[in-house]
Amino acid sequence: MSDLKSAIDLHRASTGDDPTVVIRAPGRVNLIGEHVDYHRGPVLPMAIDRALVVAASPLEGNRIVAHSALLGECAEGLLGDRSGLPVWASVLPLAAAALRREGITPTGIALTVCGDLPIGAGLSSSAAWIIAAVAALVEVSGSRLGGDALAALVPEIERAAFGVPCGTMDPLAVLGGRAGCALSIDTATGIAIPVPLPNSLAIALIDSGTRRSLDEGRYVERRRESEAAARALGRADLREATWTECSQLPAPLGDRARHVVSEIARVKEAVAALAAGDLPRFGELLGASHESLRGHYEVSNSALDAAVEIAGAHPAAFGARLTGAGFGGCAVAAIAAADADRFVAEVGSQLSARLGAGCNVSIVRPVDGAELLVPTRRPLGAPERGH
Ligand code: GLA
Repeated sequence: MSDLKSAIDLHRASTGDDPTVVIRAPGRVNLIGEHVDYHRGPVLPMAIDRALVVAASPLEGNRIVAHSALLGECAEGLLGDRSGLPVWASVLPLAAAALRREGITPTGIALTVCGDLPIGAGLSSSAAWIIAAVAALVEVSGSRLGGDALAALVPEIERAAFGVPCGTMDPLAVLGGRAGCALSIDTATGIAIPVPLPNSLAIALIDSGTRRSLDEGRYVERRRESEAAARALGRADLREATWTECSQLPAPLGDRARHVVSEIARVKEAVAALAAGDLPRFGELLGASHESLRGHYEVSNSALDAAVEIAGAHPAAFGARLTGAGFGGCAVAAIAAADADRFVAEVGSQLSARLGAGCNVSIVRPVDGAELLVPTRRPLGAPERGH
């Protein structure tokens, strides 16, 4: 695997040491089920063939030396102290503190991050990085941590490092990915059921070229609004809320709740459509999801709307929608696999003409979730307990 070789070479070049641990952590796209994971709703993401690869070796004491080939940065510090570290590297002391609470005592670590997962494009690069960082600390320290426990640590570290109160979808998708399948995840239980994608279906990723920063506060604002809607209905969350109840709510809470309630229904129908091979219906549901995210939840932007409009109008497309939190980043399209090359070329050139050179269209494939590559190949999502 060339990613593995480059990670080993980069680690040697930056530290002088051979890595004792190498981890692959993929990104994800969400096919449908947006902004419902913090209401215990169902989601349908898949881990994709774009990943971070992290190589690591032990260091004396509590030292941290972290190189990111993706950011072109190097950070040095101590496992017990976040101050002075750039935000991305502050994940290491936060992860160490979370592990100590799990009864694991991490040792010092030198670590090199590389790979082909774009950062900040809405493909869950932060969850992939946190999972790789936690797993590297665990493995370098000679400990073990089960997949469930690892997934459970991610939201608190993400919130503390990046200031964003994310839901549970991203770590569950990054850890639970299955080659050839999307994952039907009930975020109320964390249970993920693989749903094979038919061979006739391909998933296109359309990078709008616009970037968002979730800590700008708009993700938090939407989350607060929809939580306020649940409270106004006397509910803990909107998982069981109904469309009729939404009309009791003032603006903008009514619209926020309408999105969540209708999106939960769409996910259930989309899983059934996919399982039945009804790709036209699956595509329609993707289009309806985008409309709701644009109109009711107000998390789209003009570049994403243009991407969805152009992609959705292509003859190969069943449907398209923004993916992830929104406010910039990427859209996904469900397309006929036989016409994938034509879709990439034609939608790519139409989008560049409309949006400029920053956008990009490619095909993404569903892959297995995060895994240890060195010293032995092993999935990190397996539910074994620590010792
Ligand atoms: C971000 C968060 C997820 C989820 C999506 C929106 O990706 O990390 O938990 O809330 O936004 O569906």
